[in-house]
Amino acid sequence: MAFFKKKSVSAPPLPPPKHIAIIMDGNGRWATRKGLPRTAGHAAGSEVFRRIATYCRDIGISYLTVYAFSTENWKRSEEEVTAIMGLLKKYLFEALEKMEKDQIKLRFLGDLTRLSPELLALIDRTNAVSEKYEGFQANICLNYGGRDEIVHAARAFARACVKGEANPDELTEMQFGSYLYSAGIPDPDLIIRPSGEVRVSNFLLWQSAYAEYYFTDVLWPDFTPAELDKAIAAYHGRNRRFGGVK
Ligand code: FPP
Repeated sequence: MAFFKKKSVSAPPLPPPKHIAIIMDGNGRWATRKGLPRTAGHAAGSEVFRRIATYCRDIGISYLTVYAFSTENWKRSEEEVTAIMGLLKKYLFEALEKMEKDQIKLRFLGDLTRLSPELLALIDRTNAVSEKYEGFQANICLNYGGRDEIVHAARAFARACVKGEANPDELTEMQFGSYLYSAGIPDPDLIIRPSGEVRVSNFLLWQSAYAEYYFTDVLWPDFTPAELDKAIAAYHGRNRRFGGVK
């Protein structure tokens, strides 16, 4: 029987990730290790978000999605929740002032109904300005939970069915995606979790079906553009098969 040696073909290098998502974890530990209140870690973390968003825009990433506040984070002390909400307001105030210069379009994913009227008003203003821009988009997940997002989408789909606008037997994955908070945003290619925790924590459950994960021990306030480069380099070394064979 003839023996045919299988030629080994290495997979072509991956194109750069179009969409990077980050669980900004480790703020509390960073602050505690420095003898600072946890809120100081969140303040440092929001500065890192700014730097990383700008870097993503500069290197040609199309979407950056960050987990800023989960549906479970309300369990934290009132002081910590107020501090995070305050940082978000501060960030939005400043972002609104220099959006034209920065060209960073913002979108908010999550159940926003529980946010303060003041924060909601800022989000509305930010959305209105963001509509004018094309190009790099940062998505901030606020009062976001992956399961909550799926339940919210299922309710919206059921309502459409009751009104006769949708048919349950014809529902496709793509159609269901259009009911999610992330409608219209491509799935993340790369999801980064700093701080040494190796879990998903209810982040982008639907959208992460074929995402590549990257975990690092670096705490979010210490995360730098060079760390992002390392994550992207690791991503380039992956062989994405999407369930097929390559
Ligand atoms: C997780 O670290 C971080 C959060 C729950 C809050 C993240 C919020 C910000 C960075 C501030 C505002 C955001 C923007 C986009 C301006 P952790 O506190 O759970 O850290 P730990 O595990 O060390 O306690």
